[in-house]
Amino acid sequence: MQNFENFLLRNLPVSKSIHPTYEEALHKMLIAGGKRFRPALLLGVVKSYNTLMLDGAMHAAYAIELLHTYSLIHDDLPAMDDSPLRRGKVTLHVAYDEVTAILVGDALNTYSFEVLSDAPFSDYTRVQLIRELSSNGGLNGMVLGQAIDCYFENKPLSIEDVKILHTNKTAKLIAASLKMGAIIVGKEELGEKLYNFGIKLGLLFQIQDDILDVTQSSEEAGKLTNNDEDKNSFVTLLGLDETMKEANALADELTTELSNFDENLKNELSPLLTKYINRHK
Ligand code: IPE
Ligand code: IPE
Ligand code: MG
Ligand code: MG
Ligand code: MG
Repeated sequence: MQNFENFLLRNLPVSKSIHPTYEEALHKMLIAGGKRFRPALLLGVVKSYNTLMLDGAMHAAYAIELLHTYSLIHDDLPAMDDSPLRRGKVTLHVAYDEVTAILVGDALNTYSFEVLSDAPFSDYTRVQLIRELSSNGGLNGMVLGQAIDCYFENKPLSIEDVKILHTNKTAKLIAASLKMGAIIVGKEELGEKLYNFGIKLGLLFQIQDDILDVTQSSEEAGKLTNNDEDKNSFVTLLGLDETMKEANALADELTTELSNFDENLKNELSPLLTKYINRHK
C-alpha cells in the first residue's frame, strides 16, 4: 500500500485561497492514515486481473478514501457522534472549529468525484465508477445509514433493522470498493458477485467495529471508544458474547465464500481478508 500512500500525498487537494487553515485542515485527516481498507480491496481486485491498470486504479482507490474520510469527519461532529479523536489525531471540529469540519467534509466529498472524473479510463468506465461511488456513498447508502444511526439513538431497533443500518452506513461502501475494482478491469459479472460478498464483509466490519468500541481503549483504536451506549450496535442489543458468536459465524461464512473465487483473486484478497475477518478476536 506504499504506492497508494505516495499517490495520496502527491494528489492532496490544493486550495488557492487566503484562508489561513483551510488547506491544512483538508489534509489533516487524510494524511493521518487509517487502515486504507477500501482502497486495498479495490486495488487487490485490479491487481489480480490486470496489473497494468494499477496506476489508473489509484485514482479510484483515492476517490473512495476521500469520500470515506469525509464520512468520518462528519461522523465525529458534535451533532453526530461528538468525538474528539480520529486516526490518533484531534478531530477537526476540536482542532479548528465546527464550520471547518463541516466544510472540509463537504470539500472531500465533492473532490472525490473530481478525482474520479479525471481518472484515466474510458468515459463509460468513469461514469460507471462515479455511479457506484455516489449510489453507495450517498442518499441510499452511507448517508442513509448515518441518518438512521443518529435518528434511532436511544430507540432500540430489531436486530434485522440494525443489519439494514449497518449495511447502509458501512457495508455498501466496502462492497462498492470491490465492485469498482471489477468495473476497472471490465468484469461485470464478477462485480456483482464481489458486491454481494462485500455487503457481508462490510456487515462483519461494522459488527467488529461495534465490538472494538467496548474492547479497545481510545488509544488503541485511535478514536473515542465506549461511545456507542446510545447507539443501535450489535453489542448494545445482543451483548458482547452473542455479538462475538455472530461475528465468528459471519467470518466463517466469508472464508468459505472466498474459497470460491478465482485463484488469483483469492491469493490477492486472502491476506487482507484474513487480517480483517479476524480482527474482533
Ligand atoms: C471507520 O472505518 C468507520 C466504519 C465504517 C466502521 P475504518 O475502521 O475503516 O476507519 P479508518 O479508515 O481505518 O480510519
Ligand atoms: C460510522 O460508524 C460509519 C460511517 C459511515 C463513518 P461509527 O460511528 O461506528 O464509526 P466510528 O466508530 O466512529 O469510526
Ligand atoms: Mg457514527
Ligand atoms: Mg462514530
Ligand atoms: Mg464505531
